[in-house]
Amino acid sequence: MTTPGEFARVAAERVARVLRRAGETGATVSLALAGGSTPRPVYRELSQRPGLPWERVEAFFGDERAVPPDHPDSNYRMAREALLERVPVPPERVHRMEAERDDRDAAAREYGALLPERLDLLLLGIGSDGHTASLFPDSTALGEEERRVVPSEAPDEPRARLTVTPPVIRMARAAIVLARGEAKAGAVTAALEGPPDPGPCPARLARDRTWILDEEAASGLDRRSGDGDPTSEPPADTPAGGGGRG
Ligand code: 6PG
Repeated sequence: MTTPGEFARVAAERVARVLRRAGETGATVSLALAGGSTPRPVYRELSQRPGLPWERVEAFFGDERAVPPDHPDSNYRMAREALLERVPVPPERVHRMEAERDDRDAAAREYGALLPERLDLLLLGIGSDGHTASLFPDSTALGEEERRVVPSEAPDEPRARLTVTPPVIRMARAAIVLARGEAKAGAVTAALEGPPDPGPCPARLARDRTWILDEEAASGLDRRSGDGDPTSEPPADTPAGGGGRG
């Protein structure tokens, strides 16, 4: 049984390793954060990791709900409390998605223009329906190949969202999907062992990237990588479209 603390430690160390490697060139490191609840303990652990290039990190978000930044459902609020106010990322380098604006399409276009051509690291989660970021099954956003951020609608509240699109996931130099718990086992199996079509399971867009799973979320998988422990260290991610799986 993987404890929540073990999961957070393994995931934080994996994220830290990618950030350290990306930071070795001395350039800016672009990191897009996942929302939801799974990342919170991972972000807290990450904030404790030494030797990370926080002063050179540009922090972005993979998606956001159409709520104010201090709302309990805000991904920005979760990430600010669990990570961003605990590490020395310069405030001007924290780029919040303004999904609550009346003109959400304009907010999407402006945010898309902020994103780098290729993120150094994109963090993602997966819903029990197979969504990732705020790309939901059979949504038109899954066919978006030009815009980098678009408005989207969740099936449940909070419905109105902004989300990165498939090209942003594809072009990320590294991507890590975080998933814990039995409730995600079906979606994880569909994403990693089903057909490649992302329509019914958008998380398939990240199927060849790094996945950090606890035993429950991995319980439906036929095969294991690493030493059989789903939270074992997967192979390092490689540029655009390569990457290992945990
Ligand atoms: C969001 C997230 C979303 C999340 C999954 C899993 O805004 O909801 O970005 O993609 O990663 O819904 O959420 P949990 O971690 O809460 O299970």
